[in-house]
Amino acid sequence: MTERNNIPDWEEKYNEDEIETMPWFYPELDPDFEEVLQKYNIKSGAALDIGTGPGTQAIALAKLGFNVAATDISASAIKKASEKAGKTDLNLSFIQDDILNSKLNKQFDVIFDRGCFHVFQPEKMPAYVKVINALLKNQGFLFLKCYSHLEYDVIGPYPYRPDEIEFCFSSLFNILSIKDTVFYGPLKPMPKALFCVLKKS
Ligand SMILES: C[S@@+](CC[C@H](N)C(=O)[O-])C[C@H]1O[C@@H](n2cnc3c(N)ncnc32)[C@H](O)[C@@H]1O
Repeated sequence: MTERNNIPDWEEKYNEDEIETMPWFYPELDPDFEEVLQKYNIKSGAALDIGTGPGTQAIALAKLGFNVAATDISASAIKKASEKAGKTDLNLSFIQDDILNSKLNKQFDVIFDRGCFHVFQPEKMPAYVKVINALLKNQGFLFLKCYSHLEYDVIGPYPYRPDEIEFCFSSLFNILSIKDTVFYGPLKPMPKALFCVLKKS
């Protein structure tokens, strides 16, 4: 894949812009994520939202009863997402952390990545897979949403084919499903996406 040149400087982006204006802003729980939580009857546990950005997914997940850690490389994203959550009784913590060099020292039942994995250059994939494997409990789930190879847009995140997802993860994870979907949000048309369900073997 060729190198993408318009991945933003995340700190600058979150420092300058309101989170509600971001193209990935989606105020509800992602419908694909909601569907698989129901399908696999996952109702509680320790959850990690990687690249939480505006924090909407982490907040929605905590409201369902999960104990959520929400991380992002951008300190401004963490500050704004935390402010958005406000004072709350939810089990929810916002932490600045680079997932490729994570300092988290616990393991999770569920990891959700909505649009973080696909911003990394493909050569970072082995590092990403290694970190996810370390952060996930045995039999834990990784729910991964990324740009699809069917997305014609030639700028922005790296698009993936299902076989590339399999190539990246199959040595350490069982790949339960990969479905064609979209990134729900303000962009029209909504970008084509893959939603992947992986289980640590
Ligand atoms: C496309 S946005 C998605 C935000 C959020 N998941 C959502 O769906 O609203 C990608 C996010 O990944 C974060 N990010 C980029 N590189 C990261 C890294 N190395 N570690 C953690 N977060 C990162 C960015 O700051 C940004 O918030």
